[in-house]
Amino acid sequence: MPVLSMDYLLPTLIVLFWTISIAHGHKQKSCSSEKRCKCIQLADETWKAVCSGLALYQFPTFQEDVSEINLNNNSIRHWNATRQFPFYLRELSMQKNTLFFYGISDLSFIKDLVNLRVLDVSDNVDYERDMGYPAKDFRLLKDLTALYIDGLRLGNFNANEWNLTSLTNLTIVDHCFFVRLDEGFFSGLQNLEYLLINGCPLLKTIDEGVFSWLPFLHTLDLSFNEHLKFAPFKNVSLDLQSTKIQILKAKKVHCTFGIGNLLRRDHIINFQNTSITELDLSSNRIEMMEKDVPKYLPSNLTILNVSDNQFTWGLYMLSYTFLRNLRIADVSLQYSYSFKNINEMGCENSLDCGDTTSESLLFSEDASNHHQASLSRKINISVYVPCKLEKIFFHSSKFYFNIGEVHVRHNHIKEYHVKNNFFYSLIGPMYGMEYAEYVDFSRNFVKNISKSFFDTFPNLTYLDLSKNLLGNCLNENVQYDHFKSLQKLVEIRLSSNEISTLPSKLLSNAVSLEILDLSYNLISNFTFTLSVKSPLKILDLSNNRLREMSRENINSLEDKHRRFNLTLDLSGNLLDCTCDTIPFIHWIRDSEINFQNKNSYQCKMSHNRKRTFSELTSILNELGNECSSNAASMTIGITMTVMAVIIVGITTLLYRFRWTIRYFFYLTKWEFQEIISPKEQKRQKDFEYSAFVTYSENDSNFAEIEMVHHLEEEGTLKICLPNRDFSPNVRTYGSITRAIHNSKKIICIVTEAFLEDRWCMYQLQMAEEDRVHREDSDCIVFIFFSPPSEEDMRGVDRSLFLVSLIEQRSYALFPKIEAERALFWQKLVDVLK
Ligand SMILES: *[C@@H]1O[C@H](CO)[C@@H](O)[C@H](O)[C@H]1NC(C)=O
Ligand SMILES: *[C@@H]1O[C@H](CO)[C@@H](O)[C@H](O)[C@H]1NC(C)=O
Ligand SMILES: *[C@@H]1O[C@H](CO)[C@@H](O)[C@H](O)[C@H]1NC(C)=O
Ligand SMILES: *[C@@H]1O[C@H](CO)[C@@H](O)[C@H](O)[C@H]1NC(C)=O
Ligand SMILES: *[C@@H]1O[C@H](CO)[C@@H](O)[C@H](O)[C@H]1NC(C)=O
Ligand SMILES: *[C@@H]1O[C@H](CO)[C@@H](O)[C@H](O)[C@H]1NC(C)=O
Ligand SMILES: *[C@@H]1O[C@H](CO)[C@@H](O)[C@H](O)[C@H]1NC(C)=O
Ligand SMILES: *[C@@H]1O[C@H](CO)[C@@H](O)[C@H](O)[C@H]1NC(C)=O
Ligand SMILES: *[C@@H]1O[C@H](CO)[C@@H](O)[C@H](O)[C@H]1NC(C)=O
Ligand SMILES: *[C@@H]1O[C@H](CO)[C@@H](O)[C@H](O)[C@H]1NC(C)=O
Ligand SMILES: *[C@@H]1O[C@H](CO)[C@@H](O)[C@H](O)[C@H]1NC(C)=O
Ligand SMILES: *[C@@H]1O[C@H](CO)[C@@H](O)[C@H](O)[C@H]1NC(C)=O
Repeated sequence: MPVLSMDYLLPTLIVLFWTISIAHGHKQKSCSSEKRCKCIQLADETWKAVCSGLALYQFPTFQEDVSEINLNNNSIRHWNATRQFPFYLRELSMQKNTLFFYGISDLSFIKDLVNLRVLDVSDNVDYERDMGYPAKDFRLLKDLTALYIDGLRLGNFNANEWNLTSLTNLTIVDHCFFVRLDEGFFSGLQNLEYLLINGCPLLKTIDEGVFSWLPFLHTLDLSFNEHLKFAPFKNVSLDLQSTKIQILKAKKVHCTFGIGNLLRRDHIINFQNTSITELDLSSNRIEMMEKDVPKYLPSNLTILNVSDNQFTWGLYMLSYTFLRNLRIADVSLQYSYSFKNINEMGCENSLDCGDTTSESLLFSEDASNHHQASLSRKINISVYVPCKLEKIFFHSSKFYFNIGEVHVRHNHIKEYHVKNNFFYSLIGPMYGMEYAEYVDFSRNFVKNISKSFFDTFPNLTYLDLSKNLLGNCLNENVQYDHFKSLQKLVEIRLSSNEISTLPSKLLSNAVSLEILDLSYNLISNFTFTLSVKSPLKILDLSNNRLREMSRENINSLEDKHRRFNLTLDLSGNLLDCTCDTIPFIHWIRDSEINFQNKNSYQCKMSHNRKRTFSELTSILNELGNECSSNAASMTIGITMTVMAVIIVGITTLLYRFRWTIRYFFYLTKWEFQEIISPKEQKRQKDFEYSAFVTYSENDSNFAEIEMVHHLEEEGTLKICLPNRDFSPNVRTYGSITRAIHNSKKIICIVTEAFLEDRWCMYQLQMAEEDRVHREDSDCIVFIFFSPPSEEDMRGVDRSLFLVSLIEQRSYALFPKIEAERALFWQKLVDVLK
């Protein structure tokens, strides 16, 4: 036997050794004197040496067939930099070394690399010092096309010293100490096409003529020079007329904090004769533009990005229909809450496309009265947009209104990115949506969609309604299909919507639907409502409250899978593993459907034991044993179940109506006492108090001093402040209910602290309950110190309740400006009288 095994072993060993040595040799192909460098073969049989992060102080030597060298992130200083480079070197990257050191910039090691195309010596200046560029070292680099370098304070590319005729790309990012770009700054780089100068905090001046030396300039990126501001763009725009400029970026050329900016006519007047097609002015704190600024935007502009500014009228921007060629507009992330001053922004636009007349009644908001903003207003608006516009972005801009009748005139818009605003209610009709294919309405607190809203979107293929509050309007009581007209819809996202039951006809007409996302809802009984025809490929039911699935649903899903290869996600549901659901569990185990994350599914067995589907076989075995012996205890089980159901039912009812019950309990208790010892004033229908004020402890100064002064002392009203008027031992639920019932209005001072305070929320709940039983449905008055922001509304419990409350009612903003407060108090008194 030993002989035999030796016979086998020896050749095996030899083969093994041979394999190892080959692999080893291949990997260790050395192209450099530094063994730690990685050598990678390139398509043309030459080698790329990667020696980054090796803490090298000196250049290693390289073999002659190396054409690209990466020495990033070492400690090489210029005086150790003697030439050791292969003659045919095309790319040399030396980011993050210390080449510009102690005021000396010496790149003599590159001076005879005549084949060099790309040189990256950026991030090499140790600290700011007066240095210029070693232009003489570049004299022979006739093929250099791309250069990445730091912005040395005394550096320039003047034709007196420079003549890099092949250079097309120059990139200077961060580590930039330029102060001024003077007239001949780039004159030695006549063929430059892409110029990027970002992150120069000292740059303040750009002289006239700088860019007129660059006739082939295609892209100019001056972003992130935070002290540049808009003024130099007058000079820039003048120069750009004599170039081939296509893309101009001026993102964040203002520092982060400061008052809003004004974009003036003379900053950009010369842009109109340039060939710019893409303009980026995002993140510049622009608050206003001079009236006719948009008219001077380049006529061939196709992409405009003014996101992250402070326009109080971002959307309005789009009504500049004379931007004939505009295809993509980004006006998102505007900081505005409302549309004041809109009338001043100049509405008389000449409309060049189509035969429309100029009537920009975008928001007929009464600007003078912005303390009171009703959120329930339906607005009938006409919007004029540039006629070739295809995509618009106005997400996260704090627009809040209910979408009523809207006419979007003469448009070709395909994509609407409008997530993260406050479109509480989609009523419609929205006309002009024939071209809409992609609509993102997510995170908008949408609570209500009218039956016919989507009827005007015949060509929609993608609809995102996730993170809204659609559980209110998508439930089993709804007998029609909100999406019945969307026959071309391919993908719909309805996740995180508090949906608990599905309408019986949901998406039954969506014959093109491939992806349905219902994750993160509260669905416990999924019913398959889709058309037989719809080629469903992905159904996401994860993170719901599903416990099992009916036979019919399983059949429908299997049918879809047979025909269209279905992927189904049931993770995050606590399924049932009981005797009754054995067929369902078997189905999950055996079905060919592609279950996403199948092993992570969890189920609950008897005695609340949680199990994971990674042990599915043992679960099924246990169930098998349990259930065969179970028949006897069936009767007891049924009895118990019936009782449990009854108890749960009653509890649910009590819980569901807890506020109503509490309300009537305290009210009845009190009225009962009234009958025993009737009081005078109850018989007259008068209210005891003009207002009941609910506020958190933090705001007691405001309520108990300021409000008392203005309402009681000056306004001669009688108001009820629970903390003042009830001594703590009388401040019971009953007395609050009674006081609320006896007050004409209920004033809520809503602040962060109010929302956190359970006692305040209790009072608000009671007030709401009382309101339901009164005729005056407008009896709750909300006072805010700042407009309700999205952050305030965060936290689902609060938002659901508060949004629904505030949504239907007016609220008042307490003016920040002292002088406006008198009017505020006067109005409040009028309301309470
Ligand atoms: C630079 O190299 C050092 C090792 O010399 C390494 O620790 C570091 O993460 C590298 N830094 C970067 C930015 O790659
Ligand atoms: C090169 O760097 C080493 C440190 O690794 C130093 O000892 C040597 O003096 C340097 N060479 C020259 C020419 O300065
Ligand atoms: C710059 O170099 C080109 C050829 O590469 C040459 O024709 C031209 O005369 C040079 N210009 C100057 C000012 O030296
Ligand atoms: C120059 O920049 C443009 C735009 O960024 C890029 O497409 C091109 O590849 C660059 N050319 C070189 C040689 O790096
Ligand atoms: C515009 O250019 C002129 C001279 O060409 C210069 O004096 C002026 O400072 C420049 N303006 C700005 C704002 O850079
Ligand atoms: C732009 O060009 C037109 C004609 O091509 C000319 O009339 C107009 O003055 C130019 N505008 C500017 C600001 O140079
Ligand atoms: C605008 O585009 C058209 C067509 O591409 C072109 O003929 C025209 O010269 C461009 N206008 C400017 C100012 O570059
Ligand atoms: C506009 O600029 C912002 C911020 O710089 C950026 O996030 C966004 O993607 C840009 N929009 C478009 C449409 O390119
Ligand atoms: C809304 O405005 C359009 C014209 O802009 C008008 O035709 C329509 O009748 C208006 N609808 C309502 C309900 O006011
Ligand atoms: C949109 O749909 C309508 C009718 O369904 C059709 O006539 C029209 O051509 C479509 N428009 C686009 C831009 O796809
Ligand atoms: C689930 O919904 C269907 C259809 O709405 C209904 O017939 C069935 O009784 C429901 N099942 C449960 C357990 O509620
Ligand atoms: C079905 O879809 C899954 C996931 O998309 C994919 O991995 C699989 O290859 C598809 N099967 C067939 C038969 O097309």
